[in-house]
This record gives sequence, C-alpha cells and structure tokens, in this order.
Amino acid sequence: MQAKIDQYTSEINAFQPANADELESFRIKYLGSKGLIKDLFDEFKLVGPEEKRLFGKVLNEFKQHAETKYQEWKESFETKVQNQGIETDLTLPGEGIELGSRHPLSLVRREIVEIFKKLGFTVAEGPEIEDDWHNFSALNFPEEHPARDMQDTFFIKKGGEKGDIALRTHTSSVQVRMMEQGKPPFRSIMPGRVYRNEAISARAHCFFHQIEGLYVDENVSFADLKQTLYYFVQELYGEGTKVRFRPSYFPFTEPSAEMDISCSLCKGDGCNMCKGSGWVEILGCGMVDPNVLENCGIDSKQYTGFAFGMGIERITNLKYEIKDLRLFSENDIRFLKQFQSEIS
Ligand code: DAH
Repeated sequence: MQAKIDQYTSEINAFQPANADELESFRIKYLGSKGLIKDLFDEFKLVGPEEKRLFGKVLNEFKQHAETKYQEWKESFETKVQNQGIETDLTLPGEGIELGSRHPLSLVRREIVEIFKKLGFTVAEGPEIEDDWHNFSALNFPEEHPARDMQDTFFIKKGGEKGDIALRTHTSSVQVRMMEQGKPPFRSIMPGRVYRNEAISARAHCFFHQIEGLYVDENVSFADLKQTLYYFVQELYGEGTKVRFRPSYFPFTEPSAEMDISCSLCKGDGCNMCKGSGWVEILGCGMVDPNVLENCGIDSKQYTGFAFGMGIERITNLKYEIKDLRLFSENDIRFLKQFQSEIS
C-alpha cells in the first residue's frame, strides 16, 4: 500500500496539465468515484488493525495532497480563461457603471430656488456653526426666554464674545448675517442644513434642511408677503392650490403666521396626509420685527420687511408622499433610485 501511495505521489508531483481536458482526466483517474484513491480506500478497509493504524493518516494526507493539487490547477485555468478574454477581445463592452441620481431633497431645493429666482430673489448661504447672537439674540429671542427652548440646541462651546457657539437651529441666522453685512433692499432666499437635538424617528431628525426667505425694502407690507407666497405655491403645487394664513408666534416676526395649503393629495377633501382637514402646514412667516432690523443696523422707521422659513423635508414628504424622515439620510440605493428619472 505504501508503495502505491509513493508511486502515485511522485506521478502527481510530476504531472502538469496542459489544458482543462488533461486536468479532467487527472480528476477521473485519481479523485473520481472509480479512481485510484477510491481503490486505495477500499483496500484500506480490508487490512488488519495494525496496518490501519499505520496507513490511516498517510492515506488521508495523500488524498488531501491530490485534492489540493487539483484545486490549484483548476483555479489557475479559470483565471487564465478570464484573462484570455481580456487579452483577445478588447472590443468587449465593459461593465456598465450605473448612473447616480439627484437626491430628492436637492431636487426639491432646486425647484424652490428656481421659483424664487423668477421673482428676483438671490441665493445666499451662511455658516452651520453659529454664535448665540446670530441664531438667537439678534432674532429677538430674549436672554433666558423660554422661546429658546422651542429649539433643542446642540451647543459646541458655552460662553464667548458673541455668546455660546452652537450648530444653527434654523436658517433665520442667515437673515441676520445678510442684513448686518449689506444695505437694503434685501431680497434673498437662504437654503441650508440645520440641527436640533432630537431623538431620531420617522417624524424627527437631528438634522434637516430649511429655506429661509427675506425681503426688506421701503413700504414692504403683509400683502407683499401673501402675494409672494401665493405665487410660490401656485408654481410648486400647481394653479388652483389654495392658501390660508393662521396667526402664530415667532420672536423675530410681528405679526407672525403659519401658512397652510390645500392638501395636494386629496385637493382639500380630507385624507390621511392632511389628517382629514384638507389643509397641510408648509411654512412659518411674518413681518420682520422692528427689533430685528435695528439689531442688524437697519432703520426700522424707513424700512419694513417680511420673512419666511420652510422645511425642505416637509415639502419633499408632501410632494413624494415619503413617510419616514430617516430615508433621506440612510443612502439606501433602493430609495434613491426612485428619483433617477428626475435627473436634469
Ligand atoms: N425659523 C423658524 C423655524 O425654524 C421658521 C421661520 C418662521 C422662519 C417664520 C421665518 C419666519 O423667517 O418668518 O421654525
């Protein structure tokens, strides 16, 4: 038995298959179900206990050796075949690279920006890391006033020249920067990311996106605010969309309002999205509080203005009927792919 094993081992070591057919013959000869190794095992079954002890390990090791050799040759043939394809046919098409698509939030932001551009609004941006002055104080949030608790702030550093440093909780801070830096008239929209210390769920996230609007000039009235936002809604949701304003409160506007639109899904009849009311809220707005103008060095006797702020996620949810905010930041290709047709 040992003699056979030695003989086969040297045969295997000397063997070098030239092609896949030779390798297959090798497999049949040694490893096949009627092959030489099978014969050896059959023989092994018949030997006495003394020889069993002697040959058991040797036989198993030999089988292992033959299988390893076979596997190595097989793999080398497979890569050769693959490479051959490349070497011989350079005209074969490559693997297609899938085209990405715009993120739904980018699509909606762009749509909103384009509408306001038509009305002569410019686009401005500000920093995401803000000081207390720009995020709160200049916007008429009094020190220690509970209004500051309306927004759960991520603080970065307490104290400092301009107060605490924090991640901005709204894009209204950009209004302040804009007014501080320039002279009226101002007519701008300010898109950006904002942060709030909220537990992440389907309905809340610790970061989201807003678009702020600001219009300051002589003789700007609430009627201008209404007409501007009315035009915006007709453009975004289609003609015939109704709007209504409800009185509200924001420290930086007086008077303040929230604007609802007739539900785009049921056209006002009442459905799940509008919770049966026929209306959905889309933004906050109001006349810029004179204190805010003064805080930014603008004469509130000469100038008036209006401002508004909306959440891009909210508008996107309404437009595409997305029910879970987390989808926007998970980068799940199956979700993002659905907006592929909207590339432009
Ligand atoms: N900053 C407000 C928020 O984050 C939204 C807002 C409301 C902005 C009214 C405005 C405004 O400019 O006039 O909830």
